[in-house]
Amino acid sequence: MIKPHGSDTLNPLYVADAAARAALLKEAETLPSLLLNSAAAANAVMLGAGYFNPLTGYMTLADALQVTDTLHTTAGLFWPVPILNVTRQAGIKPGRLALRDPNVEGHPVLAVMDVQGVEPVSSEQLVAMAQKIFGTVDPKHPGVATFTTLGDTVLSGPIQVLNYSYFQSEFPETFRTAVEIRNEIAQRGWNKVVAFQTRNPMHRAHEELCRMAKERLNADGIVIHMLLGKLKDGDIPADVRDACIRTMVDHYFEPNTVMITGYGFDMLYAGPREAVLHAVFRQNMGTDYLIVGRDHAGVGDYYGPFDAQTIFDTQVPAGALQIEIFRADNTAFSKKLGRVVMMREAPDHVPDDFIALSGTKVRQMLGAGIAPPPEFSRPEVAKVLMEYYQIVDSKKA
Ligand code: ADX
Repeated sequence: MIKPHGSDTLNPLYVADAAARAALLKEAETLPSLLLNSAAAANAVMLGAGYFNPLTGYMTLADALQVTDTLHTTAGLFWPVPILNVTRQAGIKPGRLALRDPNVEGHPVLAVMDVQGVEPVSSEQLVAMAQKIFGTVDPKHPGVATFTTLGDTVLSGPIQVLNYSYFQSEFPETFRTAVEIRNEIAQRGWNKVVAFQTRNPMHRAHEELCRMAKERLNADGIVIHMLLGKLKDGDIPADVRDACIRTMVDHYFEPNTVMITGYGFDMLYAGPREAVLHAVFRQNMGTDYLIVGRDHAGVGDYYGPFDAQTIFDTQVPAGALQIEIFRADNTAFSKKLGRVVMMREAPDHVPDDFIALSGTKVRQMLGAGIAPPPEFSRPEVAKVLMEYYQIVDSKKA
């Protein structure tokens, strides 16, 4: 099986031993505590679940700057995006610190941190980093807006994670750790596995991308790995996406060829850099390929449609990752052929022969109360979406 990133075995930071967890919770009662922001909490969940192997905690400012500039930590580990705990809370000192969860009522302790570094970070430094990570400093970019307002102090050091925030309780059927996915792939006896990243209910384009990748790579199975954390306004909530994806897989994929899973992270909308992060954590969960299509992890018009593929040629040194990407061209429904195709593979088509398939377009139709046509969404999926949008509409009324 493919090795984790940067180490021979996976080293999740979740404390698996119940007695050790109980002892840490007890210790936490005696410690100073910090209410995390959602970005730092999501990082803790990813570290806990083994997805951010081999990191042992939150990065120092020097590591964050080096990762931003060179995609390597100061110790030389390949890593595409800073993994930070930035706060506004003053007066934190090096030593043990209880990290509280902002996304769960009562703010329970999510992790215990050994704070080793407490460093000021200026908003100019955050903006300069944002330029390199997101390719823009436009405050209208949702990732930039979050990143540049995280706080003024970087806390670095190792963490021990005590739970998976709201992800395990709200999505028990879907939330999986990297450890669990690795184990399940091994149990199924799959040797070649493709991962599919998504933050959408899966439309025809997404479905066909999975099918094409599996067939062309001659893979044993597909791991659909959906984002369960926070998204920008207007994106479809995780429970609705989850229901759509389950419906689609039940109706349109052969049994035992698809695993439906999810991970607890907030969307960064960092396009190319996020695509590389996606590859790192799919390698950690044991998949051999990641599908990267058009405008992967993008938002608005900030990135070129295939920037998230070319970064793998320009900024990922040979051998830095073992996982490979499956490069998908723009997919569209061919009126001539009556099926979804990659556009470059239909050279005899004129633009009018295609119906473009875009999640944004589907959301707009749903918002206007129009059921997406079968070229866009499977009818069973459209039904789930219409039910959700009608509920949203009646709440607005
Ligand atoms: S993402 O932010 O998670 O990347 P989304 O869920 O829409 O967004 O996309 C999941 C994957 O499908 C990404 O790799 C994306 O590039 C790809 N994709 C979505 N729609 C298309 C399309 N019409 N043509 C090619 N690739 C697509």
